[in-house]
Amino acid sequence: MKPSASLFILITFLLSFPLANGYDLEESADANGTQKNATSKRAAGERATVTVDYYQSMNIIGSKFVGVTIDSWHFQAYWNGFPFSSKKVQNLARAMAPNILRIGGTSADKLSYDMSGHAPPFNGWTFLVTPESWQTINQFVRDVGWDFIIDLNALKRNADGSWNPDNARELLQFSAHRKYTIAGFELGNEYDMYQGQFNTTVSPQQLAKDVASLKRLLAEFPAYSSSFIVGPEVAAARPEYFHSFLAAGGAKVVDAASFHHYYYPDTNTDPNLFTSIKTMDTFYRYALDPAMTQSRQVDPQLPVWLSETSSTYVNGVHNVADRFVAGFLWLDKLGLCALHGVKAVIRQDLYGETYSILDKNGDPRPDYWLTVLYKRIVRGHVFLATARQDVRVYSACANHQHFAAGSLAVYMLNPNSFPVTFDLPQFSSQPRMIYTLTGWDGDRLSQYTSLNGVKLELVNDELPKMQARVASPGHVTAPPYSFTFVVFHHAHIPLCLDRQ
Ligand SMILES: *[C@@H]1O[C@H](CO)[C@@H](O)[C@H](O)[C@H]1NC(C)=O
Ligand SMILES: *[C@@H]1O[C@H](CO)[C@@H](O)[C@H](O)[C@H]1NC(C)=O
Ligand SMILES: *[C@@H]1O[C@H](CO)[C@@H](O)[C@H](O)[C@H]1NC(C)=O
Repeated sequence: MKPSASLFILITFLLSFPLANGYDLEESADANGTQKNATSKRAAGERATVTVDYYQSMNIIGSKFVGVTIDSWHFQAYWNGFPFSSKKVQNLARAMAPNILRIGGTSADKLSYDMSGHAPPFNGWTFLVTPESWQTINQFVRDVGWDFIIDLNALKRNADGSWNPDNARELLQFSAHRKYTIAGFELGNEYDMYQGQFNTTVSPQQLAKDVASLKRLLAEFPAYSSSFIVGPEVAAARPEYFHSFLAAGGAKVVDAASFHHYYYPDTNTDPNLFTSIKTMDTFYRYALDPAMTQSRQVDPQLPVWLSETSSTYVNGVHNVADRFVAGFLWLDKLGLCALHGVKAVIRQDLYGETYSILDKNGDPRPDYWLTVLYKRIVRGHVFLATARQDVRVYSACANHQHFAAGSLAVYMLNPNSFPVTFDLPQFSSQPRMIYTLTGWDGDRLSQYTSLNGVKLELVNDELPKMQARVASPGHVTAPPYSFTFVVFHHAHIPLCLDRQ
């Protein structure tokens, strides 16, 4: 959301949402988002017992559950010199495939598409999408095997207030001619913020009609008639926008209902907020649960996407959002979304901000490694996992592309300054593969990540192997400030024999 959400909106939003909870998750204090008894000062020696309800599938997450955005504002400066075609970036991107790339953000509603080839010469700043800049990104997604979603300008409007698709049609004609594959489309970004951003408003009812026009526009192009549509891309899932849009016919024209989320503004720079269970809980309480509840009220089958999200807006906290510690909010968000039925989570963003997963030179930040590891390990049916309240635990099938059928993954976050020993009595006799991530040298503010004690680094622009430590049955000890993925590769979990 590069320069968008205001604190005012956030506070109004927090006040307007007194804890709707449409869920029946009796055992899930962790998942519920309610921390009743702060146990974070628990003695280091006490063990945490993990229970996984692996007979009940809560959700199915596919290979594209985690995706990434590039903010549309990079069009304005011709991608800001990002080295898309370097071997390093291409290798890093391929390691995330299959993957969804969304290009969206506030600037999406400022762009014009000039595919004539007669645009004025690029002078370092433009609101035009040109054949060159469009080619760069389409070539990139093709090279690295990603799916591409573009957020179209919703503020091109007719005198009667309806969306005018003419300029978007030019982009599609050009794209169809060049045989670009575009997996999905969106119309506009955070229209619940238009008043503050653009001094204008578009009603949810109007937007539902506009998205129907987008669908008709796509139908003009055989190459894009079956591309999917995601919307309404709200900054916050408040009923007056999100529910109203879906209820006004929006649910019939989108293939996924989408909302955005950031925890708080980047003016709050305390790294402890990133390891706070309370911060983690705010996501479920004020964003995820309201979004799921409203969407299910309108259409229980409609997929829900968290289509733009990161830690702190506007740009991310320096030396925090780009460090190992940022992973706590990210991994917890992935766990909560998987558990509560979200079908895709699109991380803001690939590059260009403090919270991006790559830096401006294309070098990986800690959240890059976490994202790649997550995609490799977690996939398929999702299960409720519970443990004590000063840690977070999640579970799902282990990705059948990398692990034997029937394998189960359990992942734990230890946001405490002391080690925590986990007991998993259901699997006490099972061998396990363990991936422990910490900041380099155990420093949660490190710009590097260690996997099982070894610093993760590219070697000649290639990714390292990222191997598990195979451990014999017993407990699992999580160091202070760490993430631990455990795969029980002989578990024969019935639901995980299903190759999702
Ligand atoms: C979940 O949250 C709801 C509402 O906040 C609360 O009533 C319920 O007791 C919570 N359940 C658990 C298991 O914490
Ligand atoms: C938290 O739990 C402990 C031990 O179960 C109990 O002694 C304490 O009173 C509880 N605190 C609160 C605030 O509920
Ligand atoms: C916002 O729009 C209104 C009506 O269109 C106009 O009167 C007002 O001057 C605008 N405000 C700003 C700050 O541009």
